[in-house]
Amino acid sequence: MSARISAGVFTSHVPAIGVAMDLGKTGEPYWQPLFAGYEPARAWMRDNTPDAVILVYNDHANAFGLEMIPTFALGMAANYEPADEGWGPRPVPAVAGHPELSAHIAHSVIRQDFDLTLVHEMTVDHGLTVPLSIMFGQPPVWPCPVVPLAVNVVQYPVPSGRRCLQLGQAIRRAVESFDDEINIQIWGTGGMSHQLQGARAGLINQPWDTAFMDRLIADPADLAAMPHIDYVREAGSEGIELVMWLIARGAMADCAETASQKSGPDMSPRVVHRLYHVPASNTAVGQLILEDCA
Ligand code: DHB
Ligand code: FE
Repeated sequence: MSARISAGVFTSHVPAIGVAMDLGKTGEPYWQPLFAGYEPARAWMRDNTPDAVILVYNDHANAFGLEMIPTFALGMAANYEPADEGWGPRPVPAVAGHPELSAHIAHSVIRQDFDLTLVHEMTVDHGLTVPLSIMFGQPPVWPCPVVPLAVNVVQYPVPSGRRCLQLGQAIRRAVESFDDEINIQIWGTGGMSHQLQGARAGLINQPWDTAFMDRLIADPADLAAMPHIDYVREAGSEGIELVMWLIARGAMADCAETASQKSGPDMSPRVVHRLYHVPASNTAVGQLILEDCA
């Protein structure tokens, strides 16, 4: 038996959320409603802890910089140390990798014509550690290994929604050919609407964010055709982080490109949790858990 994708998890990565946890401020009036909103997702995660997470996220000029901008960078390492700008490295456990799964994904996905950058040594910033904290809380050790997939959404040109969806499809094929019967979740992170600089700093567009989640659930192929300019105009300059959610969504059963699935039973994922909250820092916060139907 091979590995399988059991769920897609989608969540914002606002750094202030991690800092609120690190400084013990989650019970303060500003943060309490958000963390109350996270409770159902954490309860689901306690009951559905995977054997590994493929965590799609973006680095914010910590592991990479203007001297090197990989579009899709797959972590190959056994260990990733936290690093961050702003508040500095978070006081969270180092992240254990899964080198065998990474190597298999690299072989499979590159042979499916996706020329990934393979990174054997890198740090991970709030883009990766805040989603872990949101989903797992504050354990002394993260409950499962993580395969990081860093996507450039910081420096243009950034990958298209269509390419992201296709990469997710390729990752699903890789997982289904991994010769170990493990339960893997794929996480798409970043977003939702936010702009951190310029005249529109603080922009939040709730109707657009809501429609994005609706379309991500119901018609990801149509959503994947949306051009970058729409993200920037409607969701702000940093709203483009949302394009990463399409990688995780593309890895789910109903996006698999096989004839049997096109003509077969409905493979749509089950929505087990959905959250939208404003404000957290300058950013609208969204969260979705979709259980795979395969
Ligand atoms: C904020 C959001 C981000 O996605 C980020 O990377 C940094 C800051 C914010 O809302 O403050
Ligand atoms: Fe960000």
